[in-house]
Amino acid sequence: MELIDGFNPLSVERAVTILKTGGLVAFPTETVYGLGADALNPYAVAKIFETKKRPRFDPLIVHLGEKEWVEQYVEYIPAVAEDLIDKFWPGPLTIIFQKQRVIPDIVTAGLKTIGLRMPSHPVALNLIRSFHGPIAAPSANPFGYMSPTKAFHVARMFKNREVTILDGGDSTYGIESTIVSIQNSIICVHRHGAICMEELSRIGHVIEQVEKKGICGAPGELPYHYAPHKPLKIIDSTHEIEVANSSFLAFKKPPHPVSTKYMLWLSKSGDIGEAAANFFSYLIELDREDIDIIYAERIPEAGLGKAMMERLKKASKKYRSINIDKSKIL
Ligand code: TXA
Ligand code: MG
Repeated sequence: MELIDGFNPLSVERAVTILKTGGLVAFPTETVYGLGADALNPYAVAKIFETKKRPRFDPLIVHLGEKEWVEQYVEYIPAVAEDLIDKFWPGPLTIIFQKQRVIPDIVTAGLKTIGLRMPSHPVALNLIRSFHGPIAAPSANPFGYMSPTKAFHVARMFKNREVTILDGGDSTYGIESTIVSIQNSIICVHRHGAICMEELSRIGHVIEQVEKKGICGAPGELPYHYAPHKPLKIIDSTHEIEVANSSFLAFKKPPHPVSTKYMLWLSKSGDIGEAAANFFSYLIELDREDIDIIYAERIPEAGLGKAMMERLKKASKKYRSINIDKSKIL
């Protein structure tokens, strides 16, 4: 693992050489950090799966440097997709298209479709444009763990792996891109993310397909995605806290003291954008060795709140198997 300054042109030059020779480069995006490889080199892409310990049936998102690159990789661009590209690219929206054969099957886990996005982070754009080609990149975390929003998260997670990390500061959104496909001119949301439903509905009719797998649900969106190591429970009120040896992720600053070992609030005033930016980094912070459980306060499901709650609900699926030491109960 090596960590280099993403804003230094020499670092970017070095990262491009690594990508060209089939290596892995982790880079910042406006959503979360990505673990990138040359999307047209199946051997390089295989390294992503190995490094992340990611199942091969989970397709990767491909990152582009210009809107015009899309037509080289997709069969056709639906009119609504063109409108979405005009409005949201560069930015945190991934659009699923029918792919062309030039994209190796390993990238899309054998699917005939491909998820494309053009990130807006200057370091990501500079890297992709200097590389002159598409970069396949899932979030730069071991499979199933939470997405990194800071370079040091990536460094910590891939300490012993052959990965070069471009440090570009904190990811501003802090939550992954929204994933959509277009079906009969309708915008189908596969994963809630940094662009909320309200924004999408200004472009066209929007439906949610998040839970329905098989029809147009995202394959690979497994129930344990985004989970911390410790069990997580969503609570509506601090009265539900039973275990003192715990962490508490509050949405707003609680009005009363709370008897948990660690606590962080996502936003003092309850600002949803500020909360999203802190979301993964605070969860990573609260996922401590010495606690038994993480409590997470329910977040209002409007705008980006929906994306955060989707991730909390997935993380909380582990809770059922929790075995709490009763002596530590309050
Ligand atoms: O914000 C983001 O999207 C970040 C940054 C790095 O761009 N990337 C990211 O990638 O979150 P990842 O691999 O952690 O999540 C990508 C998800 C996959 O789990 C899969 O469900 C969905 O995108 N996906 C990718 N290609 C797809 C396809 N062809 N059809 C359906 N879902 C797809
Ligand atoms: Mg991910």
